[in-house]
Amino acid sequence: MHTSLAQDSSRLPDLLKKTLDASLDYLDSINNRPPATAFARNDPLDLPDDGLGTEQTLDLFVQRYGQTMPASNGPRFWGFVTGGTTPAALVGDWLTSVYDLNLTSVAHSTAPNIELEAICLLRELFGLPASFAGTFVTGATMANFAGLALGREWIARQFGKSIAQDGLHAVPPISVLSGEAHSSIFKVLALLGLGRNSLRAVATLPGHREAVDVEALRQALERLNDRPCIVVANAGTVNTGDFDDLQALASLKSRYQFWLHVDAAFGGFAACSPNYRRLLDGIDAADSLTIDAHKWLNVPYDSAMIFTRHRDLQVAVFQNSAAYLGAIAEPPDFLHLSPENSRRLRALPAWFSLMAYGRAGYREIVERNCALARVLGDRIQASATFRLLAPVRLNVVCFTLAGETDSDRVRDFLARVRDDGRVFLTPTTFQGEAGIRAAFSNWRTRVEDIEIAWRAMNDNR
Ligand SMILES: Cc1ncc(COP(=O)(O)O)c(C=O)c1O
Repeated sequence: MHTSLAQDSSRLPDLLKKTLDASLDYLDSINNRPPATAFARNDPLDLPDDGLGTEQTLDLFVQRYGQTMPASNGPRFWGFVTGGTTPAALVGDWLTSVYDLNLTSVAHSTAPNIELEAICLLRELFGLPASFAGTFVTGATMANFAGLALGREWIARQFGKSIAQDGLHAVPPISVLSGEAHSSIFKVLALLGLGRNSLRAVATLPGHREAVDVEALRQALERLNDRPCIVVANAGTVNTGDFDDLQALASLKSRYQFWLHVDAAFGGFAACSPNYRRLLDGIDAADSLTIDAHKWLNVPYDSAMIFTRHRDLQVAVFQNSAAYLGAIAEPPDFLHLSPENSRRLRALPAWFSLMAYGRAGYREIVERNCALARVLGDRIQASATFRLLAPVRLNVVCFTLAGETDSDRVRDFLARVRDDGRVFLTPTTFQGEAGIRAAFSNWRTRVEDIEIAWRAMNDNR
């Protein structure tokens, strides 16, 4: 064995203790660290011939990167839709690496029970019926990929074909209809060979809305003349947290042939609170459903779930048969259900966090985050410096600078705010206007953080 490897292996408790100290140093500073920093490229290191050993490598890492690592899992990173890591999730994630299990099948451990159990817990959290099977994937983009891959195969079946077996040329071009689809849907369409242009944008409701106009959708379906298609419903749009009327979409299913995929990457967590749950009424009609875990579940990257009522299609699309892997059993192993073959025990951080904080814990996080979004929204509404672009519906505040605004002015403001180091916000365009988003999905964020951020926003306006 290589000397450094042998030495490290005999000193593992010391090394883990040192790592714990470095972790606690970071976590103790999380409230005061800048949530984001400007990128500056390093000169890359040379690969050492002999290796430094872990202790020196940790020292090197801390010296080279430790000070500049941002607190993007801290309370004031409000860019994109970014969760943090609950203490329980951190413990689960640590153990995931300790066990380093390849969770492909039931052939060599009982660990698949952890994923199956986590999925049951999540179904309860989201109020989904047992008919929804769930599988962990790396993020909402991959969950959208899996959901639309199933939709594509379902369409092929309507023609008595299989795209999984015979390829896309087996069926006529496939249309995908959506109101305000997330950008990841376009990426997924590119990956699936349907093409970004297969998405037909359907009108959204008038006013400051991003929810699909159901009558416009009905007309678009009518124009397809009974040709089956995919409808992507949006439950929580990234700009304003708006929701399609899922119940109305569900009722269209009795008249038109379509696969209903619901992208509820963060909006799915509306189910955690009786104040917001009704936004998801009708979700049971989804054929496939995306929910992210690394957003509002507050588990570390990368983690999300694809749920579906059509497990047979999942096997048709994702099966990976080989003599050395064994036959497809019932229930099928995970490698027959997800895009990945080898996959980590990604469910463990979720399992820990769900068991540690339960229904009430997640209700409190969701309600506090939404309340804080409203506090910020109210301040913006009353201010002469900023202007709300849409009402605050859930956990996202979409606003802009008062006065003449363009994307350059917004970009410069956001760079000043980032460099100030108290809060991090990201840009957008909403209904043609250059805007700013603040998304609340971190368990650490409190009302004091709104005070700190508000001062930073006003000092840098
Ligand atoms: C509605 C929605 N769908 C999909 C995604 C993509 O998520 P991920 O980055 O986890 O792939 C996001 C990310 O913000 C989102 O908000």
